[in-house]
Amino acid sequence: MELCAVVMAAGEGKRMHSNHSKVVQLAAGKPLIRWVAEALSGVGATEQVYIVGHRQEEVREVLGEDVAFVFQEQQLGTGHAVMQAAPFLEGRNGCTIVLPGDAPLITSDTIAKALEMFEQGDYGAVIITGLAPDPKGYGRVIRNAEGNVVKIVEHRDCTEEELKVNEINSSIYCFKTPLLLSALGRIDAKNAQKEYYLTDTIEILIRDGHKVGAYIADFDETRGVNDRIQLQEVGKMLNRRTCLKLMQQGVQIVDTETTWIADTVRIGMDTLILPGSILLGNTVVGDECVIGENSRLENVIVGDGTVIDNSIASDCEVGKNCRIGPYSHLRPDTILKDNVTIGAYVEVKNATIGDYSRARHLTYVGDAKVGKNVNFGCGTVTCNYDGMDKTWCVIGDNVFIGGNSNLISPVTLKENSYIAAGSTITEDVPELGLAIARSQQVVKENWVAKKNRSRASTVIQPDKKRTSGM
Ligand code: UD1
Ligand code: CA
Repeated sequence: MELCAVVMAAGEGKRMHSNHSKVVQLAAGKPLIRWVAEALSGVGATEQVYIVGHRQEEVREVLGEDVAFVFQEQQLGTGHAVMQAAPFLEGRNGCTIVLPGDAPLITSDTIAKALEMFEQGDYGAVIITGLAPDPKGYGRVIRNAEGNVVKIVEHRDCTEEELKVNEINSSIYCFKTPLLLSALGRIDAKNAQKEYYLTDTIEILIRDGHKVGAYIADFDETRGVNDRIQLQEVGKMLNRRTCLKLMQQGVQIVDTETTWIADTVRIGMDTLILPGSILLGNTVVGDECVIGENSRLENVIVGDGTVIDNSIASDCEVGKNCRIGPYSHLRPDTILKDNVTIGAYVEVKNATIGDYSRARHLTYVGDAKVGKNVNFGCGTVTCNYDGMDKTWCVIGDNVFIGGNSNLISPVTLKENSYIAAGSTITEDVPELGLAIARSQQVVKENWVAKKNRSRASTVIQPDKKRTSGM
């Protein structure tokens, strides 16, 4: 069967109160419209046309070059929107799937089932519907005494009786393409919102003697997003779906409510994800890792057995069996080899750190190439920026750097050398050498008593207790 899809995405989304297109708003880390596009691709509807209008540049950017766009200059309703695709649909046979850009929970599976019903039953159209616990705001699917669909009535146009109906229109349909075109040519805007409703095509097809069916899907899949509360709700549902899928593959997620994982992320077996963690982009985590609590990884490759505790990492690679955190920051182009320890308040940027090297506390390593088994004392800083240019620091295998050392780049610490604590290193250090670069200590005996500066009588007091709360 010839198959194409029309996605309505031109609306302003007034109820969102945003400067951006509604359909590019993120739910579980992905624009609403991309969820829809991926569900369509999943049923083989690769020919997709998007009706764009309000902030169309944002929608085009999110969808890329592989799909078609039609501009709807004025948003005169969903029927008017689909009408804009007429040049794209004319001359086609088979099925056109029409769907809104704001229903991200719909699955390929459900669309496939509706398509199957459509193909087997000689329908002019099949509507995907859902039974809503609270149908407020949705179009109602009205059936006759025999249970056949007769029309869809928008919430605002419903009678008292119709308002009681809880079967709602998801706004996702399979139409016989020529029948869709014929019905669209005959709709008007005589309704509460003075808009051309796509829903009116259903009544027209039935009047013409065609059969219209309803495929009742799980209501959650039919949920549309009109405001930020609904956006938050569908985001949670999409995230939960991703988390459950990962758990079925052997990942242990302690709390799906507070863990956010993009559906592009891959995680290995027996990895434990603790609450408050966010995994985004093309992140790939190995087996037997512990991530969290409260860690954010974006485009990070993590080797097996690594622990990332309360830390943030982006665009970087962490090897096997590393220990990261708490409170570490791994910035772009960091490569940590295996068994590396990066501890509290340590930041690494654009640096490679060799096997078994360790920076346990309060250290900055940037623009550096670090060998194996290097020890960074607490408070080591690579001074890699002179205000104009970034410079490079090279540290050989087995180097020991004492606490509070500054390594003024460009500088090389050769293999097996030592840096004395508190040094400011400006020149290369040879293999097996010790560099001490600090001033001599001076002690003034009994200075406190002579100057009458004893602090023993004034005790430090804690700050005032915080009183704000919720
Ligand atoms: C629509 C349906 C309603 C259904 C609900 C499901 C109509 C008249 N109503 O209502 O029966 O229960 O979806 O969520 O179809 N759009 C355009 N151009 C326009 C108008 C809208 O492209 O001129 C797009 C919007 O960007 C949006 C989609 O169409 O993505 C749906 O529009 P929206 O205003 O959200 O319709 P609902 O009031 O939710
Ligand atoms: Ca909607």
